[in-house]
Amino acid sequence: SRRPVPPQFALKHKEFAHLREVKLFPNALNPHKEEARALVRAMIDRVMELHRDLRWFHIGCDEVYYLGEGEESKQWLQQQGNTPEKLCLFHIKAIASYVASSYPTVTPIMWDDMLRGISEETLAESGVPQLVQPMIWDYAADLDVESKVLLIDKYRRCGFSKVWFASAFKGATGVNQSLTLIGHHLKNHLQWLKVASSIPADVLQGIALTGWQRYDHFSVLCELFPVAIPSLAVCLQALENGGYSEKVKENVEKLLGMSNLELDTFMSTSTGTFPGSNILTLVTQVSFYLKSSVDELLERNRYVTGWFSPYHRKRKIIHPIIMHHFQPDAISLLSKWNAVVQDLQAAMEQVFHKCTVEEWMEENVHPSLEKLQQVVDDLDKAIKAQN
Ligand SMILES: *[C@@H]1O[C@H](CO)[C@@H](O)[C@H](O)[C@H]1NC(C)=O
Repeated sequence: SRRPVPPQFALKHKEFAHLREVKLFPNALNPHKEEARALVRAMIDRVMELHRDLRWFHIGCDEVYYLGEGEESKQWLQQQGNTPEKLCLFHIKAIASYVASSYPTVTPIMWDDMLRGISEETLAESGVPQLVQPMIWDYAADLDVESKVLLIDKYRRCGFSKVWFASAFKGATGVNQSLTLIGHHLKNHLQWLKVASSIPADVLQGIALTGWQRYDHFSVLCELFPVAIPSLAVCLQALENGGYSEKVKENVEKLLGMSNLELDTFMSTSTGTFPGSNILTLVTQVSFYLKSSVDELLERNRYVTGWFSPYHRKRKIIHPIIMHHFQPDAISLLSKWNAVVQDLQAAMEQVFHKCTVEEWMEENVHPSLEKLQQVVDDLDKAIKAQN
């Protein structure tokens, strides 16, 4: 799974569950139900209403793995000549036609992954190439240029006149990642530049730089937007300048107020002065040192492992002298992290909904912080029990 798959955010809810292709899976819509298509049309209308003067509209359509597995689809597929591919194209055509007829100045875009394996003949006959511009996604650092050029050739022979690319400036490198490795994303963009220079100039309509917040509607958060602003700046500048160079690097550093932009490490020494850079600084600290400093104290400090083990903690036994060897460290570590976390919380609240802040803290901060709080509390209790 890659980006948030569009129908999931509706189909995961009970109210819309009856519109699923497969009862248990919220990933795909039942294309045979008029109510399902009506839901999609309503979603399109709502977005259009908020964005006047649109020229393109992305209708999604990626990763529809279970299409064809619903009861109605199985029946449909039994008819002569029907295939899952045709079912997919049939649905795309219905949605794209709706956009084209209701909004004549808007061109629908769709993810291309469902089209990749379809034969040229089937694609050409479907009528889809005349309606939609495919967006080819690939987020890898070693994206294969030659196979992209061949794929684009195929799409053109089928009748698609323009294509889009989709790269990634964050996400795509780890489902629970909290920091962005800029080098990976830069390489991805440099590969796309190679693809762009290997095809006729008038074929490429544009490139969308995707930035993932999570892999799908059920997964944890990956990198937060402020954390990835340097990566976004590097990728945009690389695209604008047709490559990456010392001059591009200096330009990004100047724009973001960074003294030294590092591409191939998560631990950047300079985090800049751009809006949101405080979040990058604090997330970097938490990611690198919170868990490791707590583990260091609880798992590698001999006084804790030897004299304040779970056995001692449960029975509130503490050696009155040994206690002094680690209690001050535990208390100061706890107060240091509480301060960092409070700053991060406040910085995040400026830009994120409180649910997002809560989720990120619960995933990335609470496990270690609670472990540390617990040991300080247990020490307190043991000391009290002794007195
Ligand atoms: C992702 O999750 C694994 C398993 O819980 C953990 O070991 C790892 O540190 C996490 N990675 C990040 C970047 O948080």
